[in-house]
Amino acid sequence: MNPAATALRSPVRPGTTLPEGGHVHASDELLDYVSAHGLTMFAYTTLLWGAYSRPAEPLPEHYDHPGTDRRLRALAKVSEELGASPVQVVLAWLIGGHPAVVPIVGVSSVAQLDECLAAAELELPSELRQLLDEAV
Ligand SMILES: NC(=O)c1ccc[n+]([C@@H]2O[C@H](COP(=O)([O-])OP(=O)(O)OC[C@H]3O[C@@H](n4cnc5c(N)ncnc54)[C@H](OP(=O)(O)O)[C@@H]3O)[C@@H](O)[C@H]2O)c1
Repeated sequence: MNPAATALRSPVRPGTTLPEGGHVHASDELLDYVSAHGLTMFAYTTLLWGAYSRPAEPLPEHYDHPGTDRRLRALAKVSEELGASPVQVVLAWLIGGHPAVVPIVGVSSVAQLDECLAAAELELPSELRQLLDEAV
């Protein structure tokens, strides 16, 4: 199964068609379906095109909604606690979630690739995962 999804799924805009190729945000319903049928979900735009690393710039419109600030605050807190970048925390959260989501990641340098690959080894302690889950 290969729906497009976002790292921070949006309960306020279910079914929103995203500008890139008719993709949609991952919904709770979709994630439940993936779990129930033992499927694997692959997700595009998990790094929001690099926006996590450029906090001074506005988020792309379709990823900016009333829950965004809360989610970004939780992400910043977890990143700081772990000494990991926001990108790495997002990827670790997706990979280790239930259901696990396989992020399709684009990079524009070897340093970015190394940073993303290191996320596969990043352990999210349960209390920090919970903090992120509760912000979604
Ligand atoms: N989204 C789609 O509809 C789609 C469709 C077909 C194929 N794809 C492919 O899927 C892959 C993922 O693309 P995506 O569109 O979903 O974008 P994405 O993975 O959300 O964002 C990729 C961008 O994130 C930034 N980035 C990557 N690693 C980083 C790091 N460690 N720290 C900071 N910034 C980092 C880079 O931006 P900067 O260059 O600005 O630093 C990179 O170009 C790409 O190979 C793309 O060609 C995507």
